[in-house]
Amino acid sequence: MTETGRDFEGRTALVTGGASGIGRATAELLAARGARVAVLDLDPTGVEKPLRGYRADVTDSASVRAAVHAATEDLGGLDILVNNAGIGAQGTVADNDDAEWHRVLDVNVVGIARVTSAALPLLRASSFAAIVNTCSIAATAGLPQRALYSASKGAVLGLTRAMAADHVREGIRVNCVNPGTVDTPWVGRLLDSARDPAAERAALAARQPTGRLVSAEQVATAIAYLASPLSGATTGTDLAVDGGMQGLRLRPAGK
Ligand code: NAI
Repeated sequence: MTETGRDFEGRTALVTGGASGIGRATAELLAARGARVAVLDLDPTGVEKPLRGYRADVTDSASVRAAVHAATEDLGGLDILVNNAGIGAQGTVADNDDAEWHRVLDVNVVGIARVTSAALPLLRASSFAAIVNTCSIAATAGLPQRALYSASKGAVLGLTRAMAADHVREGIRVNCVNPGTVDTPWVGRLLDSARDPAAERAALAARQPTGRLVSAEQVATAIAYLASPLSGATTGTDLAVDGGMQGLRLRPAGK
């Protein structure tokens, strides 16, 4: 029986947006569990060994193709693709102009299509192929001031299921994680821009039944579960990593 601790031994993985936050924690965890891991990011300068950093912009097909080619040559194939690069957007449906709608959908949705298209021939050649997309609770719950972001993540959820159906007979599993609010540099930037960062952090933590923000490592653990060769029967699913925010309905504390 394979030990979970080294279940990625001999496997190869590519993580987009892997220089920061959830992607970085995922790349480090997969490497610690035995995988050879490459990171694709707009800014890979901080990526340290044993991770291999490649510069790519997921909105640019040529840059994606070049980076996927170079990274997978270096890794010697590809078993696992983690489509994690993403950006945020705030406001109601009326608050962003057309250019911003196109920009966010281009990164969060079309970016997944570009990277996956470039990686598919290599994944088809793997006996343990898995794709994990980073979706969001914004795909499954209505959150205020997140119209554009939620539209992008709703698309990621639908895309995940469609990709799972298209590629199941090729032996490629496709799943996604739906994190709640995760304590990453991105959320740090959001808090810094709030009028009262401490109050904003407390409000975000209180929104999750655990009373805490999710950590990047907790999301990485869920991504690793879905990507693991031990999870060969799991495809087309979305896994909430949100401190109970999606599934639980609590009474007020003490009542
Ligand atoms: P982060 O901002 O800490 O890291 C995102 C990484 O993606 C950065 O290294 C950035 O350079 C890279 N990136 C951005 N645009 C790119 C592009 N065009 N091409 C290549 N790389 C690009 O963000 P975080 O929080 O780790 O988010 C990662 C993913 O998790 C995103 O898809 C986000 O939507 C999702 N997510 C985050 C949550 C949170 O509360 N932090 C909650 C739910 C989902």
